[in-house]
Amino acid sequence: MGTIMTSAPGKVILLGEHAVVFGQPAISLAIDLRLQLRMRMGHRSSLNGHPLSERTHPYITHSIKHLWNGGALELETSSAFPSGSGLGSSAAVTTATLAALMSISGNEISQESIARHAFEVESEVQGRASPIDTSTATHGEGILIDTRPGADLLWHISRDVREWYIHHCSVPRMTLVVGFTGISSPTGPQVAKVKRYVDHSSFAREVVEEIGSLTVDGLKCLRDQNMVGLGELMTRDHKLLAILGVSCQALDKLVEAALPHSYGAKLTGSGGGGSMIALTDKPEQVAEGIKNKGGTPFIVHTGVPGVRKEMI
Ligand code: PMV
Repeated sequence: MGTIMTSAPGKVILLGEHAVVFGQPAISLAIDLRLQLRMRMGHRSSLNGHPLSERTHPYITHSIKHLWNGGALELETSSAFPSGSGLGSSAAVTTATLAALMSISGNEISQESIARHAFEVESEVQGRASPIDTSTATHGEGILIDTRPGADLLWHISRDVREWYIHHCSVPRMTLVVGFTGISSPTGPQVAKVKRYVDHSSFAREVVEEIGSLTVDGLKCLRDQNMVGLGELMTRDHKLLAILGVSCQALDKLVEAALPHSYGAKLTGSGGGGSMIALTDKPEQVAEGIKNKGGTPFIVHTGVPGVRKEMI
């Protein structure tokens, strides 16, 4: 068996982050920034020439434990997007590793099996995880996460009392500009902060419900390819997320810089830092505005495939 090459996309959450923790739907999209991984049998297990270790490469070593009982594996990765930016780099490396392991073992690549193993791997490594990142990296295009099953159901994942129904969501090719604040902010504390607010305030609970209903409206805009409507929903979602306390000055500055040339803009993911996204047909102007305010812009497109084997 020679070298296997796989790739997996990064992701952005289009609408519904945080509210999804309280049972509302969320939409996540794969983007055309990909991580590539090469794998071959070797003499010593390594990643990019360094010995593979559970401490420094937890996602890869846990994936290997799930699907491999053969000899040493030599891996190489290269990624078009930085880790710690909220674009799902750990899910991309996990799903690309699992796909390569299936392939090197002579098995067909199964999306559902990758999504399930990848969710387990993220849970083992992070303690707590939602399947948003791993299911998006696996399936590509777009996914709708809901607490109820509906049309286009892909798979159902549960853990403790939490349940997620992952649905396929058709996504047109859209241009987004991602603006990375440069601040890497862990998800856990942001989720805990919102929970404290929601537990004590009926106003916060109403905000969460409003995010849920605008996410449902967003699905219809995606279906109708209504960019003006979708952009308005994104900007409204940003304001609601700010009320919940998960935006920050750096994110607000990048959103404001993007808005004059965008249909809409919002933070994406858990907030407190990380990245924002803008929906636009003037990506160069938006990228310039983001750069002027100290952010790192990435012009990306949607409607791209999930984890897959590449020809070499
Ligand atoms: O920070 P990210 O991109 O992993 O997104 C977290 C999404 C949340 O809704 C805030 C948390 C969750 O588990 O769904």
